[in-house]
Formats: sequence, C-alpha cells, structure tokens
Amino acid sequence: MNGPIGVFDSGLGGLSVLKELRKVLPNENYIFYEDSIHNPYGVKSEEELIQITSQIVDYLLERNCKIIVIACNTATTCCMKTLRKMYPNVIFVGTVPAIKVAYDHHYKHTIILSTPYTTQSKRVQELIHDYHSPEQEIINVSGENLANLIELDKKQEIYDFLEKTLGKYRGKVDSVVLGCTHYPLVSDVFKKVLPGVALLDGGNGVAREVKHQLENAHLISTASVEGKIEIINRLDDRYIDRSFEILNS
Ligand code: DGL
Repeated sequence: MNGPIGVFDSGLGGLSVLKELRKVLPNENYIFYEDSIHNPYGVKSEEELIQITSQIVDYLLERNCKIIVIACNTATTCCMKTLRKMYPNVIFVGTVPAIKVAYDHHYKHTIILSTPYTTQSKRVQELIHDYHSPEQEIINVSGENLANLIELDKKQEIYDFLEKTLGKYRGKVDSVVLGCTHYPLVSDVFKKVLPGVALLDGGNGVAREVKHQLENAHLISTASVEGKIEIINRLDDRYIDRSFEILNS
C-alpha cells in the first residue's frame, strides 16, 4: 500500500503527467523512469518498443511499484495490450490522445498532433471513430521529431517546426489535442503559434484514473505527509535537475 507509483516515458514528457498525479495524489511516493536514452520512441518499431518498455516495467516491479503509469501515448498505443498480457497481475494505466475531451467539449475544428507512431496507429483511428461527430473536423497531424526537439530543449527549432506545421491553421481551428506527453511542456509556443486555441491533454484524466484504480485495489497510501519523488535518467544526470525545475514550475 505504501509502495511507490511507477511512471515512465521516453524522457521528460512524462513530467506533464507526473505534475497532474502529484496534484491528485500528493501523499504518494513516485519513481519516474525517464528513458531519454531511447528517445524518441515515436519512430521505433513495435518489437523494439515492447522490448524497451518491458525492461522498464521489470525494473519498476523490482522497486516494488504498486501500479505502473505509462506516461507516453506512443508506448500506450503500441505496447499496452501486450504488457497487460505479459504481466497479468500488474495494474497499468496508460495515456492516449485526448480525442474524447475534444468531442465532449463540442469543438468543431480539432488538430490531433502526436508522434509518427501514434498518428498512424490503429488506436488513434479507433478513438477518432468512437469520438467524432459529423459536425467536427478532425485533422490528424504527425509531430515528426518534435518530442526529440523538446527533449533537447531546441527552442528555436521547436517554434520553427510548429509554425511550419500548424501556422497555416491559424484562425481555422479551435482546439489542438496534444497527443504526446512532451508537448504540454511547450504549451507557451503552441499558444504563440495558435493564439486562443484550446490545448487538450490527457494528464488530469490519467491522474484521476490512477486514483480510481488505487482506490478499487485498496492501495491508496495511508501517509499523511507529502510523498517523495525519485527520478531516474540513465543518459545524463543533468536531466534530473532540469526535470525537478519543470516539475516545480
Ligand atoms: N512522450 C511520448 C508520447 O507521449 C513519446 C515521445 C517520443 O519519444 O517519440 O508519445
């Protein structure tokens, strides 16, 4: 019950989910495995991603995590079903592009921006099919290398990419689904390129689902003080300082 919540992503992106988790479940302990070594996930094959993510799951289970949060749309759309089969006793919560949120809010012109893997995935096609009204225009766009540019903090290149890819929709769309957990980290750039447009991500929904799953399994922490966060990054320790800065910003 007082074991940590394990969270992982291909790098810093999972922080956008961890921030929401901390708001909803402040007294839990967290281990966040940011897999910057293998960033970007969005251009890898299914076989590679299953191999990489199952190794992370093994590690988080060795560390006694009571639930595993896949804070990555790419890893969720690609590996969730297989991981659930491989680890039938583990509780997994994943994240998928917040297409349902756009539908629930009756937006009329929605861009879905995600990694190349997610953009082409069957899961995104299913979500568009399930949560799409005839009056709603959906524009499914690949974010190409954007997650990696965010990982490397390439500010000018991030702006140039978003301007080139989304600038043409200025004044023509009312919402953008940030279908990669790295994207909320640069929401200020999205706002510059598409002023006034609603930016939708799944972070809060994931946090509420984790709470629900822990309550169901009677695994909510009994601690009455704020929990600890451990961040693991095997590429470079400097990412850890940067992560805490992002987390506390
Ligand atoms: N942050 C991840 C996602 O939500 C993956 C980005 C990447 O490594 O390509 O899809």
